[in-house]
Amino acid sequence: MTHLAIQCENLTRDFRDLRAVDGLDLEIEPGTIFAFLGPNGAGKTTTLQLLIGLLAPTAGSARVLGLDPQMDGEAVRSRIGVLLEDHGLYEELTAYDNMEFYGRLNRIPNPDRSDRIRTLLEKHGLWERRGERVRTFSRGMKQRLALARAMIARPRIMFLDEPTSGLDPGATRSVRETIRELASEEDITVFLNTHNLDEVERVSNRVGIIKGGRLLAFGSPQEVKARSSRGSVVIRTGGIPAAVMERMRNLVGVEKMSARDGEIRAVLGDGAKPSDLVQFLVGEGVAVSEVREDRASLEEVFLRIVEEDA
Ligand SMILES: Nc1ncnc2c1ncn2[C@@H]1O[C@H](COP(=O)(O)OP(=O)(O)O)[C@@H](O)[C@H]1O
Ligand SMILES: [Mg+2]
Repeated sequence: MTHLAIQCENLTRDFRDLRAVDGLDLEIEPGTIFAFLGPNGAGKTTTLQLLIGLLAPTAGSARVLGLDPQMDGEAVRSRIGVLLEDHGLYEELTAYDNMEFYGRLNRIPNPDRSDRIRTLLEKHGLWERRGERVRTFSRGMKQRLALARAMIARPRIMFLDEPTSGLDPGATRSVRETIRELASEEDITVFLNTHNLDEVERVSNRVGIIKGGRLLAFGSPQEVKARSSRGSVVIRTGGIPAAVMERMRNLVGVEKMSARDGEIRAVLGDGAKPSDLVQFLVGEGVAVSEVREDRASLEEVFLRIVEEDA
């Protein structure tokens, strides 16, 4: 038995001659908020459907809580919560009745069921609105209700397919808040599909970057940034003569450099430190007023990884 929440080995899925998921190897520890980040068509939804047993792999295998979603689909689905792109709520039922229906479907007996429903609706800020039909809800409220519903049977893992897509900034913030709470309070693993970088930085502690069905990077957001980032250093000066610029450009370890209005931005490779540049400039009689490191944002890293692979 594995202790891993999710494990994929060479997981592959074709649609006719299109390879949507291509030899995916992935290991996710329990308690992780994993963001699966990639552009449209990267293979995120297909992977999620393979993991929850809605699709069969063409090759390779997946394990969810140590179970094979193909062989033990029922067992897997009874231990997970799922929020697909289409939330699948009953629009004509009230918020409460949607929860009640789902609770019965999951055979949660009373009084546990009504306690659980109340707790979840309160936590998601929907208790006061429990008697209203879902069709009158905003998209953000529906999404929060769908999250609450997916939580009803105390899942060990939540699979969320782009849960904030199409939400306004306020609703996006509250859904992200909820995802973070999920993982901390209920100690569950979250598998979160997203094409939104901001989301990754704000909620996840592991990120996988996927494109063309292939995993291009995996690690903590910091690791993924550090591994592929060549952060730049920004040096503000009182002004820098062209000849000094030229000499600086040729220093060991300076990979790229530009200057505007006395502000230098340089990308350093191995063997060069910001302090080397400052020392050089001071030696050339240039007045340095500020030095700061400019770490690449995850967005830059993501674009670089995705573009390099193109
Ligand atoms: N049922 C399907 N039949 C044929 N092609 C599909 C099907 N589902 C997805 N695809 C294709 O597989 C690729 C990956 O899609 P998907 O997993 O939905 O990507 P993402 O969720 O990252 O946007 C895309 O090229 C998509 O068009
Ligand atoms: Mg998708």
